[in-house]
Parts: sequence; structure tokens; C-alpha cells
Amino acid sequence: MNLSDIKSLDSQYFLQVFGERAPVCFVRGEGATLYDQDGKAYTDLFAGIAVNSLGYNHPAVTDAIIAQAKAGVLHTSNIYYVEPQAQLAELLCKHTFADRVFFSNSGAEANEGAMKLACKYFYAQGSKRHKIISADHSFHGRTLATVAATGHDYYQEPFRALLPKGFTQVPYNDLDALKTAIDDETAAIMLEPMQGEGGVTPGNGEYLKAVRALCDAHGILLIFDEVQTGVCRTGSLYCYQQYDVIPDIMTSAKGLGCGFPIGAVLASEKVASKISKGDHGSTFGGNTFACAVSLSAMRYMIDNDFSAVAKEKGAYLMNALKAIDSSKILEVRGMGMLIGIQLPADFPAGALMGKLLKRGFVAGTASGNVLRLAPPLILSYEEMDAFVAALKAELE
Ligand SMILES: Cc1ncc(COP(=O)(O)O)c(C=O)c1O
Repeated sequence: MNLSDIKSLDSQYFLQVFGERAPVCFVRGEGATLYDQDGKAYTDLFAGIAVNSLGYNHPAVTDAIIAQAKAGVLHTSNIYYVEPQAQLAELLCKHTFADRVFFSNSGAEANEGAMKLACKYFYAQGSKRHKIISADHSFHGRTLATVAATGHDYYQEPFRALLPKGFTQVPYNDLDALKTAIDDETAAIMLEPMQGEGGVTPGNGEYLKAVRALCDAHGILLIFDEVQTGVCRTGSLYCYQQYDVIPDIMTSAKGLGCGFPIGAVLASEKVASKISKGDHGSTFGGNTFACAVSLSAMRYMIDNDFSAVAKEKGAYLMNALKAIDSSKILEVRGMGMLIGIQLPADFPAGALMGKLLKRGFVAGTASGNVLRLAPPLILSYEEMDAFVAALKAELE
């Protein structure tokens, strides 16, 4: 099919939640390069929104997919033991604060699980604590509870009548606002250590440490949503490890399957011990196929120290972007390979993204007129140089 045929099918039959899309359909990928139907090559600096961390057709992903498909077992049921599920849970626990893991199919589902864990933790103790405080400009997903936790009116307004109660948002990086919002029904504070969708805004180190202390002082739980920041992307396996602030519960998704859908909620034994049979579950969550692929990708990234790779390449890219002399770049910020380029209001990030696409480079945007980069971590230095040159040319 050519692009205009696909476009007309999409516009007639697909629910129009994505509106008019970028005018390209990728059909093949290799390394950090995507190819459209005409064979035109694009260098990817967005990885499907921080998902395809090993790029395209990486053996650690492709071979695991083929091997598991050939074994014939994609899914059994969580009634039975699932070998790669147990192994992936062990791997995640060995490399994080967590003692136990539950797998989901997406980031939003992982966050739902995290909030249920927090609620059950207090319920099991006969406590009335159940409310969740999150941050303005946060993004936690598209289910009703995660929309209620997401700090954007835009996402909440049409669904307000159905949104669960017990959610409040406060300004990010503002400790006083958080102190004021806590009451004797607060169960947890849920934050991204660095906000992704909200504009690539790193958490302030002192703030995050103070939030941990505040949680301890009140006996409430700290949830980190690392759906976007996790899995080596920011220069450590999980971003909290660079802040040295340990959460009680953490969520992961996106890069966890390097393109294969999987999410996870990770918890300390303190929290996990309050969860009983029947409190949570999933048909597809933790299925053999997803866990086998994620296990292979995660082992590869850990064994080859992709945290260090993301840190080094991210620093290189960030420095090259900061060196661009243009009045259109107000700030370059981020951590590792999650970078935001702040543009002025009269220079829309969406339009710049479209122009870069025409030049053969895939980038993204974030709220607040930010051009967002979340490249595959296998992106080469030459590819980074080529992108910076293209951006420079476009800004000139
Ligand atoms: C921080 C964060 N949490 C949750 C989500 C939702 O993840 P999913 O789209 O897999 O449900 C996202 C997606 O962008 C995210 O960035």
C-alpha cells in the first residue's frame, strides 16, 4: 500500500485520537535507521518515544522473539509457573532496591498496580490513608486512575465525572507545596524523577531527597514512575540511582521490552508483604513471550553497561546541542539520552520536528514547546553529529 492509501484507511476507520500523523510509515529498521515505503532512510532520535533502546533488528531482541515463537509458547496463564517471568523478576530485584516485581503490559497498567499496592499497604494495617499526591505537568498514563494522577487539565477535563477521587497535584520541585498537600489520608507521593512528557524537566536533587524524608516523617510511601526514565536511558539502570533517593514502589515500561510491550511494578518487601492472593492480577501481564524478550534485552543492556553508554553518548549529544549558536535554543536540559531542547513560543517544536523529518531525522516533542530526543542507545557518534548538523542547518 502507498502512504495515501494507508492515510485514507486510517482517517476512515481508526479512532482519531492521534489526529493527523507525521506523513511517513516506517516499514523496516536496522540499527538506529528506519526506512519508509520508498526506501528512504531516517536516523531515529526518538526510539518510538523512549522505547526502542536497542534500535531495530538487534539480535538481543530479534533472536529472543524468534526463539520463543519457535518454542511455541507465547502465553500460558499465570495459574502456572512462567520461567522467564521468574528470571526477569530476579534480574530486576538484583539490580534495584526492589524485593518483588509484578509484570503488566504497559506503563499505565504498571502505575495502576503501584497505586493499588500503596492503597493496600495501608488498608492491610487498618489505616484510612489512600490518597495519592502527584505533580503538575506529570504524565502517568491514559487509564482513569492514571489520568487522575496526571497533572494536566487537558487530559482530565473531558473525563472528570468518571475520574476516581483521592488525587491531588502540586507544582513539581516545590517542597512547600507538597508539605501543604499532605494530610492524614495521604498514602503516597508519586513522581517522575525527571518529567518526560511534561517538558524533560529533571527533578531537583535536594527536592527529591527532601520528599523522601517527608514520606518517612509521615509514614507514607514514595512511588517513582520510571516508565520513561528507566532502563539505562538517563545514565543509570533507573534514574533514582543517580539521585540516591530510594522509592518504596517504582514502575517501569517503555525500554523494558525494547519494543516488545511489557511493564513492571517493583516494590520493597515492606510494601509487598501487605499484598495477598487476589489483590492484583493480569491475563497477559508477565506472559512468556514478553518476559523472554525483555529478559534477553535487559541482560544484554546490563552486561554491556548501557547505563554508561547512555551517560557518555548523552553528554556528547548534550554538549554538541549546547554549542549550537542560535537564538531559537533557549535551553538544553535532560539526563543521559533523554534530552529536551527548549524553543521560544513563536518557534513551534512540532513544526521543527516536521522539518527534521523531511531531512531524514526522527525527533519528538514534549509539553511547553520542547523538542525531545530519546534516541536508541546504540546511536553512533557519527549519527549524532549528522543530527546536530541538520538541526543547525534548520535553525539557520
Ligand atoms: C512517565 C510515564 N508514565 C506512564 C506512561 C504511560 O505509559 P503507557 O503509554 O505504556 O501506558 C508514560 C508514557 O509516555 C510515561 O512517560
